[in-house]
Amino acid sequence: MPTRFSQVLRALRHAGATARPHGRIGRLLHGATGALLVYNFFVNGETRNALFDPAAMRSELVFGVALGLLFLLRWAWMRRQGHSRLPADAPAWEQRLSRWAHRAIYGLLAYVVLSGVAIAGLRPGAVIDPEAVFFASDQPLLNFVLDTHAAAANLLLLLILMHVLAALWHLFVRRDGVWQSMIGRWPWRG
Ligand code: HEM
Ligand code: HEM
Repeated sequence: MPTRFSQVLRALRHAGATARPHGRIGRLLHGATGALLVYNFFVNGETRNALFDPAAMRSELVFGVALGLLFLLRWAWMRRQGHSRLPADAPAWEQRLSRWAHRAIYGLLAYVVLSGVAIAGLRPGAVIDPEAVFFASDQPLLNFVLDTHAAAANLLLLLILMHVLAALWHLFVRRDGVWQSMIGRWPWRG
């Protein structure tokens, strides 16, 4: 006998045609840029002490700008191909949420890269006490850019976690082919 939970799941399941797959290049760009971004969350200007190590700052700058350009390429490509494969008859709230979540990911990423470039440009002219418990330089603009760089990067990470949860919602609850459109048939064939 089906439990109440499985009845609810069945009621939430998508009924119409499933999502068309994203193209090969779009999927490749999604995986490659996503992996590089996640790497950048673990190995970043703070973990490398870039404010006090000019060589680390230079490599952060090169990596960050290259990542930004790759994301720009991906955004331009996906704009031509269509950012989402949500079925046309998906509920309006799903359509709106997915559109704004994808826009916010690109927007926050652009801010993190541009603020990173600003940090690299402003740092050489600033005095920072490496022993201070609460970080502050003698330049208010650098302080502002550093604070918002960290806040935007952390918000971006949160958004990506929610994005993965949303993808799992499509895989296990809606079963509308949206997961498969980007990730492929693994691990769900239903
Ligand atoms: C395990 C990790 C991930 C999973 C399972 C996943 C899953 C998906 C799926 C299923 C789609 C298709 C959505 C649709 O067609 O409406 C998609 C698109 C998208 N994903 Fe992910 N994703 C992951 C990681 C990431 C990361 C790290 C980013 C950060 C940049 C990201 C950003 C996006 C964006 C912006 C789109 C819209 C298509 C585009 O414009 O590129 N995803 N993702
Ligand atoms: C464009 C080149 C970039 C430069 C020059 C740069 C530089 C820096 C610097 C100097 C810090 C250290 C701040 C401190 O010690 O308080 C930092 C922190 C950080 N950066 Fe970047 N960054 C760049 C791009 C990026 C990108 C693309 C990401 C990806 C999300 C990123 C993620 C982070 C994170 C997560 C932190 C730690 C924030 C925290 O304190 O919680 N950065 N960055």
